[in-house]
Amino acid sequence: ADFNYNPVTAQAHANIALIKYWGKRSVDLNLPAVGSISLTLDALKTTTTLQFDENLNEDELQLDYRKVTGKPLDRVTEFLDIAAETSNRPRAKIVTKNSFPTGAGLASSASGFAALAVAADKALNLNHSKEELSRLARKGSGSAARSIYGGFAEMKCGSSFDDDKDDYAIPLHDESHWDLRLLIAVTSTDKKDVGSTEGMVRTAKTSSFYQGWVENQQADLEEMRSALHAKNFEKVGELTEHSCFKMHGLAMSGRPPLLYWNAATTETIHTVWNLRKKGIAAFVTIDAGPQVKILCQPDRAELIKQAVLSVNGVKNIIETKPGPEASIVQSEI
Ligand code: PMV
Repeated sequence: ADFNYNPVTAQAHANIALIKYWGKRSVDLNLPAVGSISLTLDALKTTTTLQFDENLNEDELQLDYRKVTGKPLDRVTEFLDIAAETSNRPRAKIVTKNSFPTGAGLASSASGFAALAVAADKALNLNHSKEELSRLARKGSGSAARSIYGGFAEMKCGSSFDDDKDDYAIPLHDESHWDLRLLIAVTSTDKKDVGSTEGMVRTAKTSSFYQGWVENQQADLEEMRSALHAKNFEKVGELTEHSCFKMHGLAMSGRPPLLYWNAATTETIHTVWNLRKKGIAAFVTIDAGPQVKILCQPDRAELIKQAVLSVNGVKNIIETKPGPEASIVQSEI
Protein backbone atom coordinates (compact mmCIF):
# COMPACT_ATOMS: atom_id res chain seq x y z
CA ALA A 1 0.00 0.00 0.00
CA ASP A 2 0.91 3.63 -0.52
CA PHE A 3 0.93 5.21 2.95
CA ASN A 4 -0.09 8.78 3.51
CA TYR A 5 1.53 10.08 6.71
CA ASN A 6 -0.70 13.13 7.08
CA PRO A 7 -3.56 12.95 9.57
CA VAL A 8 -6.90 12.22 7.91
CA THR A 9 -10.27 12.72 9.57
CA ALA A 10 -13.53 11.01 8.67
CA GLN A 11 -17.01 11.09 10.12
CA ALA A 12 -19.83 8.59 10.02
CA HIS A 13 -23.24 8.31 11.64
CA ALA A 14 -24.78 5.35 13.43
CA ASN A 15 -27.85 3.70 11.91
CA ILE A 16 -30.92 1.90 13.14
CA ALA A 17 -32.06 -1.25 11.35
CA LEU A 18 -35.73 -1.12 10.35
CA ILE A 19 -35.41 -4.65 8.94
CA LYS A 20 -32.93 -6.35 11.26
CA TYR A 21 -29.73 -8.21 10.59
CA TRP A 22 -29.34 -11.27 12.85
CA GLY A 23 -27.26 -14.34 11.93
CA LYS A 24 -24.02 -14.95 10.04
CA ARG A 25 -23.23 -17.13 7.02
CA SER A 26 -19.59 -16.98 8.02
CA VAL A 27 -18.17 -15.69 11.27
CA ASP A 28 -14.60 -15.66 9.89
CA LEU A 29 -15.47 -13.45 6.91
CA ASN A 30 -18.28 -11.67 8.79
CA LEU A 31 -20.89 -12.48 6.15
CA PRO A 32 -24.55 -11.89 7.06
CA ALA A 33 -27.15 -14.66 6.75
CA VAL A 34 -29.84 -12.12 5.81
CA GLY A 35 -30.09 -8.69 4.20
CA SER A 36 -31.20 -5.66 6.25
CA ILE A 37 -32.53 -2.12 5.77
CA SER A 38 -31.56 0.85 7.94
CA LEU A 39 -31.93 4.54 8.61
CA THR A 40 -28.75 6.57 9.21
CA LEU A 41 -29.03 8.83 12.28
CA ASP A 42 -27.99 12.45 12.33
CA ALA A 43 -27.37 12.90 16.07
CA LEU A 44 -25.15 9.85 16.55
CA LYS A 45 -21.86 10.78 14.91
CA THR A 46 -18.35 9.38 15.21
CA THR A 47 -15.37 11.49 14.13
CA THR A 48 -12.09 9.63 13.68
CA THR A 49 -8.59 10.91 12.91
CA LEU A 50 -6.04 8.40 11.69
CA GLN A 51 -2.35 9.04 11.24
CA PHE A 52 0.32 6.51 10.29
CA ASP A 53 3.57 7.06 12.16
CA GLU A 54 6.79 5.17 11.47
CA ASN A 55 7.99 5.82 15.03
CA LEU A 56 5.19 3.86 16.68
CA ASN A 57 5.65 0.20 17.67
CA GLU A 58 1.95 -0.48 18.04
CA ASP A 59 -1.31 1.17 17.12
CA GLU A 60 -2.59 3.70 19.63
CA LEU A 61 -6.30 4.21 20.15
CA GLN A 62 -7.93 7.09 21.96
CA LEU A 63 -11.71 7.09 22.45
CA ASP A 64 -13.43 10.17 23.82
CA TYR A 65 -10.15 11.51 25.24
CA ARG A 66 -9.22 8.22 26.92
CA LYS A 67 -6.53 5.80 25.89
CA VAL A 68 -7.98 2.37 25.06
CA THR A 69 -6.14 -0.97 25.03
CA GLY A 70 -7.17 -4.65 24.98
CA LYS A 71 -9.98 -5.95 22.80
CA PRO A 72 -11.16 -2.68 21.22
CA LEU A 73 -7.57 -1.86 20.22
CA ASP A 74 -7.05 -5.40 18.83
CA ARG A 75 -10.19 -4.99 16.69
CA VAL A 76 -8.86 -1.72 15.28
CA THR A 77 -5.39 -3.20 14.60
CA GLU A 78 -6.95 -6.19 12.85
CA PHE A 79 -9.17 -3.89 10.82
CA LEU A 80 -6.24 -1.74 9.66
CA ASP A 81 -4.29 -4.90 8.69
CA ILE A 82 -7.27 -5.94 6.55
CA ALA A 83 -7.61 -2.48 4.98
CA ALA A 84 -3.87 -2.36 4.20
CA GLU A 85 -3.91 -6.02 3.14
CA THR A 86 -0.81 -6.58 5.28
CA SER A 87 0.09 -6.64 8.95
CA ASN A 88 3.54 -5.42 7.94
CA ARG A 89 2.57 -1.76 7.96
CA PRO A 90 3.45 1.37 9.88
CA ARG A 91 1.47 1.64 13.10
CA ALA A 92 -1.14 4.37 13.48
CA LYS A 93 -2.53 6.76 16.00
CA ILE A 94 -6.33 6.71 15.97
CA VAL A 95 -8.28 9.39 17.81
CA THR A 96 -12.01 8.86 17.84
CA LYS A 97 -14.87 10.83 19.34
CA ASN A 98 -18.59 10.12 19.61
CA SER A 99 -21.13 12.95 19.58
CA PHE A 100 -23.31 10.88 21.90
CA PRO A 101 -22.43 10.04 25.50
CA THR A 102 -19.94 7.16 25.68
CA GLY A 103 -21.26 4.27 27.70
CA ALA A 104 -24.85 5.29 26.99
CA GLY A 105 -25.41 1.73 25.88
CA LEU A 106 -25.76 2.82 22.27
CA ALA A 107 -24.09 0.79 19.57
CA SER A 108 -21.12 2.78 18.31
CA SER A 109 -19.56 0.01 16.21
CA ALA A 110 -21.55 0.98 13.10
CA SER A 111 -20.47 4.62 13.02
CA GLY A 112 -17.04 3.69 14.42
CA PHE A 113 -16.07 1.19 11.72
CA ALA A 114 -17.68 3.22 8.92
CA ALA A 115 -15.59 6.26 9.95
CA LEU A 116 -12.48 4.11 10.27
CA ALA A 117 -13.03 2.56 6.83
CA VAL A 118 -13.32 5.99 5.21
CA ALA A 119 -10.25 7.30 7.08
CA ALA A 120 -8.20 4.17 6.26
CA ASP A 121 -9.17 4.42 2.58
CA LYS A 122 -7.75 7.94 2.45
CA ALA A 123 -4.66 7.25 4.57
CA LEU A 124 -3.84 4.21 2.42
CA ASN A 125 -4.64 6.01 -0.87
CA LEU A 126 -7.01 3.20 -1.84
CA ASN A 127 -9.65 5.29 -3.64
CA HIS A 128 -12.32 2.72 -2.95
CA SER A 129 -15.81 3.03 -4.46
CA LYS A 130 -18.75 3.33 -2.02
CA GLU A 131 -19.48 -0.35 -2.58
CA GLU A 132 -15.90 -1.25 -1.68
CA LEU A 133 -15.94 1.07 1.37
CA SER A 134 -19.13 -0.61 2.54
CA ARG A 135 -17.58 -4.06 2.11
CA LEU A 136 -14.53 -2.91 4.10
CA ALA A 137 -16.66 -1.40 6.90
CA ARG A 138 -18.59 -4.70 7.11
CA LYS A 139 -15.38 -6.49 8.05
CA GLY A 140 -15.27 -4.38 11.21
CA SER A 141 -18.96 -4.73 12.06
CA GLY A 142 -21.88 -5.94 9.94
CA SER A 143 -24.06 -2.92 10.67
CA ALA A 144 -21.20 -0.54 9.74
CA ALA A 145 -21.62 -1.47 6.06
CA ARG A 146 -24.88 0.52 6.07
CA SER A 147 -23.41 3.63 7.74
CA ILE A 148 -21.39 4.45 4.61
CA TYR A 149 -24.62 5.94 3.20
CA GLY A 150 -26.94 8.67 4.43
CA GLY A 151 -30.70 8.25 4.69
CA PHE A 152 -31.95 4.75 3.96
CA ALA A 153 -29.61 1.90 3.00
CA GLU A 154 -29.91 -1.80 2.30
CA MET A 155 -27.29 -4.36 3.23
CA LYS A 156 -27.17 -7.11 0.61
CA CYS A 157 -26.66 -10.71 1.53
CA GLY A 158 -24.55 -12.79 -0.84
CA SER A 159 -24.80 -16.54 -1.29
CA SER A 160 -21.17 -17.67 -1.29
CA PHE A 161 -19.71 -19.07 1.94
CA ASP A 162 -16.11 -18.24 1.07
CA ASP A 163 -16.15 -14.80 -0.54
CA ASP A 164 -17.88 -11.49 0.05
CA LYS A 165 -18.33 -10.27 -3.49
CA ASP A 166 -22.08 -9.71 -2.96
CA ASP A 167 -21.95 -8.59 0.69
CA TYR A 168 -22.10 -4.80 0.78
CA ALA A 169 -24.73 -2.13 1.30
CA ILE A 170 -26.37 0.04 -1.34
CA PRO A 171 -28.17 3.38 -0.95
CA LEU A 172 -31.98 3.36 -1.18
CA HIS A 173 -32.84 7.05 -0.57
CA ASP A 174 -30.70 9.86 0.81
CA GLU A 175 -31.57 11.79 3.97
CA SER A 176 -33.69 14.36 2.11
CA HIS A 177 -36.17 11.66 1.00
CA TRP A 178 -38.32 11.75 4.12
CA ASP A 179 -38.29 13.80 7.30
CA LEU A 180 -38.81 11.28 10.10
CA ARG A 181 -37.82 11.27 13.77
CA LEU A 182 -36.27 8.55 15.87
CA LEU A 183 -36.51 8.93 19.64
CA ILE A 184 -34.04 6.82 21.59
CA ALA A 185 -35.26 6.05 25.09
CA VAL A 186 -32.19 5.18 27.17
CA THR A 187 -33.15 2.72 29.90
CA SER A 188 -29.74 1.47 31.00
CA THR A 189 -26.12 2.46 30.55
CA ASP A 190 -24.73 -0.94 31.59
CA LYS A 191 -22.45 -2.80 29.21
CA LYS A 192 -24.33 -5.68 27.61
CA ASP A 193 -23.13 -9.12 28.61
CA VAL A 194 -23.83 -10.96 25.35
CA GLY A 195 -22.53 -9.11 22.29
CA SER A 196 -24.19 -9.34 18.88
CA THR A 197 -21.75 -11.87 17.34
CA GLU A 198 -22.02 -14.25 20.27
CA GLY A 199 -25.80 -13.82 20.33
CA MET A 200 -26.13 -14.50 16.61
CA VAL A 201 -23.96 -17.62 16.76
CA ARG A 202 -25.90 -19.01 19.71
CA THR A 203 -29.24 -18.34 18.03
CA ALA A 204 -28.22 -20.00 14.76
CA LYS A 205 -26.96 -23.08 16.61
CA THR A 206 -29.78 -23.57 19.07
CA SER A 207 -33.03 -21.93 17.95
CA SER A 208 -35.52 -23.99 15.98
CA PHE A 209 -36.94 -20.66 14.72
CA TYR A 210 -33.74 -19.76 12.89
CA GLN A 211 -34.53 -21.34 9.54
CA GLY A 212 -37.91 -19.61 9.42
CA TRP A 213 -36.26 -16.27 10.19
CA VAL A 214 -33.79 -16.62 7.30
CA GLU A 215 -36.46 -17.83 4.87
CA ASN A 216 -38.86 -14.96 5.59
CA GLN A 217 -36.39 -12.10 5.41
CA GLN A 218 -36.62 -11.59 1.65
CA ALA A 219 -40.36 -10.84 1.85
CA ASP A 220 -39.84 -8.28 4.66
CA LEU A 221 -37.06 -6.56 2.69
CA GLU A 222 -39.24 -6.29 -0.41
CA GLU A 223 -42.18 -4.86 1.52
CA MET A 224 -39.96 -2.37 3.31
CA ARG A 225 -38.37 -1.19 0.06
CA SER A 226 -41.77 -0.37 -1.43
CA ALA A 227 -43.13 1.19 1.78
CA LEU A 228 -40.09 3.49 1.98
CA HIS A 229 -40.40 4.40 -1.66
CA ALA A 230 -44.10 5.25 -1.18
CA LYS A 231 -43.40 7.01 2.19
CA ASN A 232 -46.17 4.93 3.72
CA PHE A 233 -45.52 5.62 7.41
CA GLU A 234 -48.02 3.11 8.84
CA LYS A 235 -46.56 0.36 6.68
CA VAL A 236 -42.94 1.24 7.46
CA GLY A 237 -43.80 1.31 11.17
CA GLU A 238 -45.66 -1.99 11.09
CA LEU A 239 -42.81 -3.72 9.24
CA THR A 240 -40.23 -2.17 11.58
CA GLU A 241 -41.98 -3.54 14.67
CA HIS A 242 -42.53 -6.90 13.02
CA SER A 243 -38.85 -7.33 12.19
CA CYS A 244 -37.81 -6.20 15.68
CA PHE A 245 -40.10 -8.61 17.51
CA LYS A 246 -39.22 -11.45 15.17
CA MET A 247 -35.51 -10.89 15.90
CA HIS A 248 -36.08 -10.76 19.66
CA GLY A 249 -38.38 -13.81 19.56
CA LEU A 250 -35.56 -15.58 17.77
CA ALA A 251 -33.02 -14.50 20.40
CA MET A 252 -35.35 -15.58 23.21
CA SER A 253 -35.82 -18.99 21.60
CA GLY A 254 -32.10 -19.84 21.80
CA ARG A 255 -30.55 -22.08 24.45
CA PRO A 256 -29.81 -20.56 26.85
CA PRO A 257 -32.34 -17.85 25.98
CA LEU A 258 -31.25 -14.33 25.22
CA LEU A 259 -33.37 -11.48 26.54
CA TYR A 260 -31.99 -8.00 25.92
CA TRP A 261 -34.86 -6.15 27.60
CA ASN A 262 -35.34 -4.79 31.10
CA ALA A 263 -38.56 -3.71 32.82
CA ALA A 264 -38.38 -0.18 31.41
CA THR A 265 -37.97 -1.60 27.89
CA THR A 266 -41.29 -3.45 28.22
CA GLU A 267 -43.00 -0.49 29.90
CA THR A 268 -41.90 1.80 27.05
CA ILE A 269 -43.25 -0.62 24.43
CA HIS A 270 -46.66 -0.55 26.13
CA THR A 271 -46.59 3.23 26.45
CA VAL A 272 -45.99 3.55 22.70
CA TRP A 273 -48.72 1.03 21.91
CA ASN A 274 -51.16 2.92 24.16
CA LEU A 275 -50.36 6.14 22.30
CA ARG A 276 -51.09 4.32 19.07
CA LYS A 277 -54.50 3.23 20.35
CA LYS A 278 -55.22 6.94 20.78
CA GLY A 279 -54.32 7.57 17.15
CA ILE A 280 -50.73 8.74 17.59
CA ALA A 281 -48.57 7.00 15.01
CA ALA A 282 -45.40 5.70 16.68
CA PHE A 283 -43.57 2.38 16.35
CA VAL A 284 -40.80 0.77 18.38
CA THR A 285 -37.61 -1.04 17.48
CA ILE A 286 -34.92 -2.52 19.74
CA ASP A 287 -31.40 -3.83 19.06
CA ALA A 288 -29.15 -6.11 21.09
CA GLY A 289 -29.66 -4.01 24.21
CA PRO A 290 -32.42 -2.51 26.40
CA GLN A 291 -32.91 0.90 24.71
CA VAL A 292 -36.17 1.48 22.86
CA LYS A 293 -36.06 3.42 19.61
CA ILE A 294 -39.34 5.03 18.58
CA LEU A 295 -40.03 5.91 14.97
CA CYS A 296 -42.44 8.81 14.46
CA GLN A 297 -43.24 11.84 12.35
CA PRO A 298 -41.87 15.28 13.30
CA ASP A 299 -45.19 16.79 14.45
CA ARG A 300 -45.70 14.00 17.01
CA ALA A 301 -42.18 13.85 18.43
CA GLU A 302 -42.66 16.22 21.38
CA LEU A 303 -45.85 14.59 22.63
CA ILE A 304 -44.36 11.09 22.42
CA LYS A 305 -41.19 12.25 24.13
CA GLN A 306 -43.14 13.60 27.12
CA ALA A 307 -45.15 10.37 27.45
CA VAL A 308 -42.06 8.15 27.27
CA LEU A 309 -40.05 10.34 29.67
CA SER A 310 -42.65 9.59 32.34
CA VAL A 311 -41.94 5.84 32.11
CA ASN A 312 -40.21 4.56 35.23
CA GLY A 313 -36.61 3.71 34.33
CA VAL A 314 -36.31 5.85 31.21
CA LYS A 315 -33.21 7.94 31.90
CA ASN A 316 -33.26 10.27 28.93
CA ILE A 317 -34.30 10.55 25.31
CA ILE A 318 -32.10 11.34 22.34
CA GLU A 319 -34.05 12.79 19.42
CA THR A 320 -32.65 12.34 15.95
CA LYS A 321 -33.55 12.48 12.25
CA PRO A 322 -32.16 11.00 9.01
CA GLY A 323 -28.43 11.67 8.78
CA PRO A 324 -25.80 12.01 6.04
CA GLU A 325 -23.32 9.63 4.45
CA ALA A 326 -19.84 8.96 5.83
CA SER A 327 -17.21 11.39 4.57
CA ILE A 328 -13.77 12.90 4.93
CA VAL A 329 -13.88 16.13 6.93
CA GLN A 330 -11.49 18.84 8.05
CA SER A 331 -9.71 17.69 11.17
CA GLU A 332 -11.66 18.70 14.30
CA ILE A 333 -9.37 17.00 16.75
O1 PMV B 1 -22.96 -5.93 13.10
P1 PMV B 1 -23.32 -5.72 14.49
O2 PMV B 1 -22.47 -6.47 15.42
O3 PMV B 1 -23.41 -4.24 14.81
O4 PMV B 1 -24.82 -6.32 14.69
C1 PMV B 1 -25.98 -5.60 14.53
C2 PMV B 1 -27.15 -6.32 15.11
C3 PMV B 1 -28.39 -5.50 15.36
O5 PMV B 1 -28.05 -4.19 15.76
C4 PMV B 1 -29.17 -6.13 16.49
C5 PMV B 1 -29.30 -5.44 14.14
C6 PMV B 1 -28.89 -4.53 13.02
O6 PMV B 1 -29.23 -4.87 11.88
O7 PMV B 1 -28.26 -3.48 13.25
